Amino acid sequence: MEIITNSYTETERFAENFAKQLKGGEVIAFKGSMGMGKTCFTRGLAKGLGFNGQVTSPTFALVNEYVGGRLPLYHFDMYRIESWEDLYSSGFFDYKESGGVIAAEWSENIEGALEDDTIVISFERLDENSRKITVSRGEA
Ligand SMILES: Nc1ncnc2c1ncn2[C@@H]1O[C@H](COP(=O)(O)OP(=O)(O)OP(=O)(O)O)[C@@H](O)[C@H]1O
Ligand SMILES: [Mg+2]
Repeated sequence: MEIITNSYTETERFAENFAKQLKGGEVIAFKGSMGMGKTCFTRGLAKGLGFNGQVTSPTFALVNEYVGGRLPLYHFDMYRIESWEDLYSSGFFDYKESGGVIAAEWSENIEGALEDDTIVISFERLDENSRKITVSRGEA
């Protein structure tokens, strides 16, 4: 499916609503470059799961854990992941088995580790405040 959002808030709301269908165990892989709305979307997911704390880019930490909502959400930034070894040491596979939800920014860097049931969310910039967001499931 495909939607166009015209503001940060619209993207966040869409993600908040999207979170309702999550059952745990999903990997959500974001595609799209800087400033597209990947962190914005993740903030919406966290809200939608009922997490009340801060959601910030895990660029330096690699992964942020948002626990306390309906399901735990693990927010990865794969920007600096360059090898399988990096990916293993990030804890990605352990988190994946834990039954929480994974949301991964810069998933282009872990393409080979994504399974067929990955939820891929791609962002395209239409103009300063508009984004085309494409959600595809099971076609990673
Ligand atoms: N429709 C929109 N949806 C989401 N963000 C938007 C939209 N229009 C404009 N923006 C702006 O785009 C930026 C998105 O920032 P965000 O941190 O979510 O991007 P990102 O994809 O995570 O980037 P990075 O790769 O640097 O982490 C914000 O500055 C936001 O205000
Ligand atoms: Mg980000």
